[in-house]
Amino acid sequence: MSDTVSGPWTAESMAGAAYIVAALLFILSLAGLSKHEKARAGVMYGIAGMVIALAATIWLTLQGAWGTGAGFTGLVLLVAAVLVGGAIGLWRARVVQMTGMPELIALLHSFVGLAAVLVGWNGHLEAPDLPGALTAVHHAEVFIGVFIGAVTFTGSIVAFLKLSARMKSSPLMLPGKNAINLGALIAFVALTVWYVNDSQLWLLVVVTALALALGWHLVASIGGGDMPVVVSMLNSYSGWAAAAAGFLLNNDLLIITGALVGSSGAYLSYIMCKAMNRSFISVIAGGFGIAAPTGGDADYGQHREITAQATAELLSNASSVVITPGYGMAVAQAQYPVAELAHQLRERGVNVRFGIHPVAGRLPGHMNVLLAEAKVPYDIVLEMDEINDDLGDTSVVLVIGANDTVNPAAAEDPGSPIAGMPVLRVWEAENVVVFKRSMAAGYAGVQNPLFFRDNSQMLFGDAKQRVEDILKAF
Ligand code: TAP
Repeated sequence: MSDTVSGPWTAESMAGAAYIVAALLFILSLAGLSKHEKARAGVMYGIAGMVIALAATIWLTLQGAWGTGAGFTGLVLLVAAVLVGGAIGLWRARVVQMTGMPELIALLHSFVGLAAVLVGWNGHLEAPDLPGALTAVHHAEVFIGVFIGAVTFTGSIVAFLKLSARMKSSPLMLPGKNAINLGALIAFVALTVWYVNDSQLWLLVVVTALALALGWHLVASIGGGDMPVVVSMLNSYSGWAAAAAGFLLNNDLLIITGALVGSSGAYLSYIMCKAMNRSFISVIAGGFGIAAPTGGDADYGQHREITAQATAELLSNASSVVITPGYGMAVAQAQYPVAELAHQLRERGVNVRFGIHPVAGRLPGHMNVLLAEAKVPYDIVLEMDEINDDLGDTSVVLVIGANDTVNPAAAEDPGSPIAGMPVLRVWEAENVVVFKRSMAAGYAGVQNPLFFRDNSQMLFGDAKQRVEDILKAF
């Protein structure tokens, strides 16, 4: 492959150097993305890293293409794949709504899983001639890569179906589900040992089927409220699947990138589990140890309604206002009038702040992105833990399209499916106005007693429309 480049710099070594630069840029990208102020630079580092990685890979393939027929076929396949994949990716990225991002991400994870399965199968069918011990390592790479890839593939498909409401978000409760998961893992370990010693094709068929079923079962067993953790966990799995493929393809960049995605996804899952007071192990083990919720349809009494005009009056007399946005603000695209409302209240001397729940919306940082887009100053956008203790001294809380993230049942009803999940304690404020279109439940499908509290009033209608009505009333 390196025939056309002479001297100490072979095609592989130059591509290797480019891969190291790309890997460094990816690390800088992750570091940048961890802070609002540096996020844009982080994205640029990521783009630069990807351009370098792609250019090096294409160049490496070109080098191989001149000499051999196989290299030329590789080049044609590469160009075709990049054109078709790039066109589909561009089209999807242009049409996807912000609220549809998690399901798109879940679907993309499934492709990574499928790719790892195909690479693993290829590793079996085109097994290289390796000396003794290395053969065992190769077999282990094939088997583990196929297993992780297949779990990621079906797990991501179920996540996609649940997030896009094509499948019920309630957890699948098969009898003995923990034993099923544990049994599948033990079978995988036993099959791996067998395959490493005797690499028969049927063992690969069995582990592929086992992992496909396990991935499906793991994610189907997880309830709606825990889906954010599942998405980041599948993100992590897809990283490990890519790293496994990197070992098989002998591609350092794929190994590094896969490990970065795998470990950052695992860390994000851990942070989200902590934020939602969930056990990390129980979520990654498909809801291990979580009993079926007992929360029923309790009668919380009557709710009260308020008009936009009356809300404007309430706000005019307020000294402090906290806005807690949720998924509904994203659906209504209400961030611009909400930013304007915050601006006008601040002009009138009202202390306005935003309280952001870690899983508000449908993807990590969803609300932060929307508010940044509408140019809300960062210093008034606070995390849940930073604002919760101040809510008791707040005159008015505006709950804009949020539901599960402000549900008192999480704190007060141990039988609730979201019991134990930390929430914004908005009910402690003097007045709460809830902007939503109906009395419907939120993503977790749980009724919200907040709507029936004495200090709560419902402002029904599309959030954007209602906030604009308040601005007019000012
Ligand atoms: P949700 O509990 O999903 O509730 C959103 C509310 O917005 C709904 O009750 C809906 O009520 C209202 N709404 C929808 N469209 C609206 C519109 N145009 N105008 C006004 N209101 C509208 O929201 P949340 O509090 O943000 O909680 C997020 C939930 O999603 C959590 O359960 C979380 O676990 C889950 N989740 C989060 C993520 C991440 S990473 N953030 C990922 C997947 C799932 P109406 O229909 O009555 O209007």
